[in-house]
Amino acid sequence: MRVLLVAGARPNFMKIAPILAAVEQARWQATLVHTGQHYDAQMSDSFFHDLGIRAPDVNLGVGSGTHAEQTARVMLGFEPVLASTRPDWVVVVGDVNSTLACALVASKLRAALGCRIAHVEAGLRSRDWRMPEEVNRVLTDQLADLLLLPSEDARSNLLAEGIEPGRIVFVGNVMIDTLLAQLPAALAAGIPEREGLVPRQYAVSTLHRPSNVDTPEALSVVLAGLTAVAERMPVVLPLHPRTRRNAEAFGLSSLLGKLRVLEPVGYREMLSLTAQAAAVLTDSGGLQEETTALGVPCLTLREQTERPVTVTEGTNRMAAWPLTADGILAGFEGTLAQGQRDVGSCSVEGWDGHAASRIVAALRRTVD
Ligand code: UD1
Repeated sequence: MRVLLVAGARPNFMKIAPILAAVEQARWQATLVHTGQHYDAQMSDSFFHDLGIRAPDVNLGVGSGTHAEQTARVMLGFEPVLASTRPDWVVVVGDVNSTLACALVASKLRAALGCRIAHVEAGLRSRDWRMPEEVNRVLTDQLADLLLLPSEDARSNLLAEGIEPGRIVFVGNVMIDTLLAQLPAALAAGIPEREGLVPRQYAVSTLHRPSNVDTPEALSVVLAGLTAVAERMPVVLPLHPRTRRNAEAFGLSSLLGKLRVLEPVGYREMLSLTAQAAAVLTDSGGLQEETTALGVPCLTLREQTERPVTVTEGTNRMAAWPLTADGILAGFEGTLAQGQRDVGSCSVEGWDGHAASRIVAALRRTVD
């Protein structure tokens, strides 16, 4: 069997790592395509290093741009690679522009090449069409032959959109495979201590959603909220390049003054920081899941989440909307009050470290 795996942006790498390992363990022929959507050492290379992902077979080197530019460049670069590789499966993960671009190319070549598309992390919905990720998710799911669910609640979203039940398979959350495999090394790395922080006495934050960082009004509110939290305990903020660029452009860099701003950190450093935090404040989808798996309280700085299972079964709570500095502080106090849970107490079905083997089993079954 020939499997082509697509990785493009930071949140893809921890999903691809265990799938690539499981595909190679099955002795299938794996082709790894990096679209180059993320390209900095800290946004890409360090993840390949930390997660032990081998060098990609192909790097499309698309880089940054508008949505249309980025999506189109991935499509143009990917089409000849797909045509020459002729895989049985194209595996795309998550909801970034690279995910949709490659699914779209594969869907048009499906008949000519006989390839099929599998979407890992299918069925998540925020129902907010202003999010580029929502567009990417819904369209990728429509195009995929095999929709691999990270949590059971995603199934009804797909059925409501008319997806045939036979295309849907529950596999669990492959990102948690990586988290559980990397946790011992992350804890041993002692990053909080290196930063002069006391475990469980600091908060970690990440911000990069356009809705929070692309206007001066939104960005100043979240930074004011984090500054209020920083009166209670240190707030570590590994700063996404989009957020740094905007803070500078909007003249808001002074609002970063009370925060422990870091460059973007690698996977293991981030896991080390997150696992030992008192709480996390974030607009990331992945961190909502990782904090639930780790039992660390999380406050999500968004209007809604496409990962409601982290609220109903995990440690996540939504900040009061619209965001205000006081609301963020109150939400933080509330999330702290709910307390830590033990690692390993996560009860979400399929967040158990074995999703990649279930993905390989689903690919095998569907071809046979
Ligand atoms: C993308 C994904 C988002 C994901 C996020 C994780 C889409 C639509 N968005 O958003 O779902 O949560 O990745 O980070 O696919 N930049 C660098 N170095 C890099 C990459 C980007 O400096 O290696 C800067 C560039 O200025 C770029 C900006 O960050 O314009 C935004 O990058 P982009 O890939 O467009 O989107 P993200 O905000 O990272």
